[in-house]
Amino acid sequence: MKHLYDCILGEKRTEVILATDVASITSHIETTIRSVLWVCDTNTVKFLATDSQKTVVLPSGEEAKSWQSIENIVAAAVKLRLARDGFIVAFGGGVVCDTAAFAASIYMRGCQLILIPTTLLSQVDASLGGKTAIDVFTIKNLVGTFYPAKHVFVCPTIVKSLPEKEFKNGLGETLKHALLAQDQSLMEFFENQQRAIMRRDAMVLERMVIDSLQVKRFYIEADPREEIGIRSALNLGHTFAHALESAGNLNEWAHGEAVAWGVAKALESGLKLKITDHVFAERALRLFESYGFNIGYRVRHIERFMLALEGDKKRKSGAVRFVMLSNQGKIRLETLEDQIIKSVISRT
Ligand SMILES: NC(=O)c1ccc[n+]([C@@H]2O[C@H](COP(=O)([O-])OP(=O)(O)OC[C@H]3O[C@@H](n4cnc5c(N)ncnc54)[C@H](O)[C@@H]3O)[C@@H](O)[C@H]2O)c1
Repeated sequence: MKHLYDCILGEKRTEVILATDVASITSHIETTIRSVLWVCDTNTVKFLATDSQKTVVLPSGEEAKSWQSIENIVAAAVKLRLARDGFIVAFGGGVVCDTAAFAASIYMRGCQLILIPTTLLSQVDASLGGKTAIDVFTIKNLVGTFYPAKHVFVCPTIVKSLPEKEFKNGLGETLKHALLAQDQSLMEFFENQQRAIMRRDAMVLERMVIDSLQVKRFYIEADPREEIGIRSALNLGHTFAHALESAGNLNEWAHGEAVAWGVAKALESGLKLKITDHVFAERALRLFESYGFNIGYRVRHIERFMLALEGDKKRKSGAVRFVMLSNQGKIRLETLEDQIIKSVISRT
């Protein structure tokens, strides 16, 4: 195992450690930490050889981000007599990480937390940054806390077992990070290593995950609590994506695919407004297309889409500011006129 860096979020420090296999992580944790409660889901439990008394298995999927899961984790922690200096260890995708982290943040007013992300999306995104959440009243991430993990163990090769759809889901966010990076090396890497990435070769997975996570680190360290507009860069493509998903397309689109489409719409809006550099935008659009993302999709129910955007506006007290890119890693927050939005989503 290799210590990569410490990510500093205000007064909190997260140690990020690279591992080549899961067994080395679990044996390291079991031998160095006295009191541990493992949290996984029905798909990730098979990778864990932990004592079932010390393991909570959540259902797989978004439904697990619930009060019921929190109650189950807290009940298991009480049964184990886990103290405040004991660790809750999340082993799973973003759902397990968000839920276990929220439980850790409120158990005894905060116990120790380790995240072991097992999907591409959670390795490059949900593992770092301190956001924890569950869904309440069917509203995604309605209840949550800010609670960075003490340690994050990243094992890129574990994503080899992900279904294709989940791998692509993570790729959407990872390509987004390539555009947000401060230089073009991650973009060049994606352009040059496409076959190896799609084959999920161990060496390229490692580079992709480490470099993509560094991009997230850059933005969250500069603005840990999303207060000065820097961290919101990570929402590139998300306003378009959320509207697409909530305008009746929730089941049609995996989140990462909707984000890829949303990034394309932000770039196209930037081109129309002459905010975005033409050469950069064309190159970025080609990159998403080359990985099979349907960025040319035209919204059929435009009014429904605009209504979904209105809903976003209400939740954010009036102004929806879109993250735009003027060039590689250079963001601007802009309000967009309906006419521009309509023209890019229907490509007129
Ligand atoms: N906290 C944050 O900053 C943050 C950031 C982004 C997303 N999120 C949250 O993350 C969640 C989505 O995360 P996700 O995409 O990882 O989904 P997920 O956790 O539901 O995992 C996707 C599926 O893959 C399975 N799985 C996980 N690891 C596997 C493996 N190695 N092999 C085979 N199957 C495996 C899971 O059981 C699940 O069925 C959302 O709830 C989102 O809100 C949080």
